[in-house]
Amino acid sequence: METRKFIDKPDQSCLLIALSVVLASLVSFSDAEDHYHEFVIQAQPVKRLCRTHKIITVNGQFPGPTLEVRDGDSLIIKTTNAAQYNITLHWHGVRQIANPWADGPEYITQCPIQPGGTYTYRFTIRNQVGTLWWHAHSQWLRATVYGALIIYPKVGLPYPFLTPSQEIPILLGEWWDRDPMAVLQQAQFTGAAPNVSNAFTINGQPGDFYRCSSQETTVFSVESGEAVLLRIINAALNQELFFAVANHKLTVVGVDAAYTKPFTTNIIMIGPGQTTDVLLTADQSPSRYYMAASAYESAQNAAFDNTTTTAVLEYSSETCSARRQSSQVLLPQLPAFNDTTTATAFTAGLRSPSKVSIPNKIDEYLFFTVGLGLINCLLPSPNCQGPNGTRFAASMNNVSFVFPTALSIMQAYYQGVPGIFSADFPPVPPILFNYTGNVNRGLWQPVKGTKVYKLKYGSMVQLVLQDTSIVSTENHPMHLHGYQFAVVGMGFGNFNAARDTPNFNLVDPPVRNTIGTPAGGWVAIRFVADNPGVWLMHCHIDSHLVWGLAMCFLVENGQGDQQTVIPPPSDLPQC
Ligand code: C2O
Repeated sequence: METRKFIDKPDQSCLLIALSVVLASLVSFSDAEDHYHEFVIQAQPVKRLCRTHKIITVNGQFPGPTLEVRDGDSLIIKTTNAAQYNITLHWHGVRQIANPWADGPEYITQCPIQPGGTYTYRFTIRNQVGTLWWHAHSQWLRATVYGALIIYPKVGLPYPFLTPSQEIPILLGEWWDRDPMAVLQQAQFTGAAPNVSNAFTINGQPGDFYRCSSQETTVFSVESGEAVLLRIINAALNQELFFAVANHKLTVVGVDAAYTKPFTTNIIMIGPGQTTDVLLTADQSPSRYYMAASAYESAQNAAFDNTTTTAVLEYSSETCSARRQSSQVLLPQLPAFNDTTTATAFTAGLRSPSKVSIPNKIDEYLFFTVGLGLINCLLPSPNCQGPNGTRFAASMNNVSFVFPTALSIMQAYYQGVPGIFSADFPPVPPILFNYTGNVNRGLWQPVKGTKVYKLKYGSMVQLVLQDTSIVSTENHPMHLHGYQFAVVGMGFGNFNAARDTPNFNLVDPPVRNTIGTPAGGWVAIRFVADNPGVWLMHCHIDSHLVWGLAMCFLVENGQGDQQTVIPPPSDLPQC
């Protein structure tokens, strides 16, 4: 059963806003609410592309329930696993200050919830506003287990932009005409790349360009002249996407639950894990327009799903069916799949609305290579069906991350259990090479390990993520749990500190939780290590994650209760 509280959207009336600001100043310490939800993980038959599959869902819903809260509110989500797989849930982008127990990545901060088990996630939203989302963080279950997490401002705080008359969550997803867990198992057996998806989806529906789908195409109706806020979430498992709406400009006002300087564009590029809030004004002639998404695929010679998902933006005067039949739906022009210029221009165009406080006295200069690799096999084997009889792998600083199986890293650290992880993740690559050049084959094979990098509480961190050309250069959407970071610079080729550091934007860089390494390039981020706990950093392309494109930061406790990880809840699952 779900208990959802209705939340008033910010109101247009200046009078009301003025009144509520006055009220907010009187009650702002007492108006935080607790939101209770019951999430039952269960299989549910769902028909797409002419065939029915039993997919894993929350409460039988696909996509899963939308959570709506205000900044400062708490969520209490009792999760019951009525499915046949181990599972965890992750609240993507929620900072979970000193509360890694609620973060969710399996074997990082908790053991999975076993079939029949329950676990209650309890956490508070602190100083975050905008669009986040939640998803399973076990194997490939997030292919179907995901939903939106919308954070409205505190009572009385308006948006720093034109108040939309309508808000629409747009969840971009990826559908396999098979059980995604079987696709993963097959890839893990063969060592080859997993099969690509058969469709992309908008709010769970592929749209008019797929077989047996047009009856169910998602339709959003708008009034002429109104402003609509689209809260776009890339929940696809493995694919970065371009998104556009025919004839309509999009004004980006937020990414990853942080406001941005309004930025008007025809196209957005959004990586798995990222969110982008855009304002759209229904100022075109009343008609029906497609919104559409298709792949941005930066890797060379990689198979990818080259289909296009659509939903319809329908002006309300068009709802009468006679008109609907006569009116053509206009399709937006999406970039070519390999249009890195457009993808980069979009990502690099984002700015914070005003000056951001960014660490400038850096304690930790970290430099991590990010990329694919190949594990050599001694003999030909059915398990070595990757390129030239190898198995695919991926790594950061040549360490291919292996998830523990006996206990989570956070529990092992907290309880002092040895042998689960080691704290020797290297701050720089073990061997320096021309990362984006023609890399010697002797450097293609990473080393497996479960390594964390320790950070002192409060240390100022600069991290450069450097893509490599091993196997292929590629844009990797890198997500850091438990933090929001400032994206201070990016470029193509190898990072050069002397040349590139002076060009960093230390004034108004965007603040995010997921950022792509430009294909064959680098991105620099800065953050203060002010959240104690174990925090996974990984590529949000799940095929890369399972190949090992991950590491963890272990941020030590600071002084006093506020800077110390809270005790684990008594129902934290056992392994
Ligand atoms: Cu959205 Cu580790 O994940």
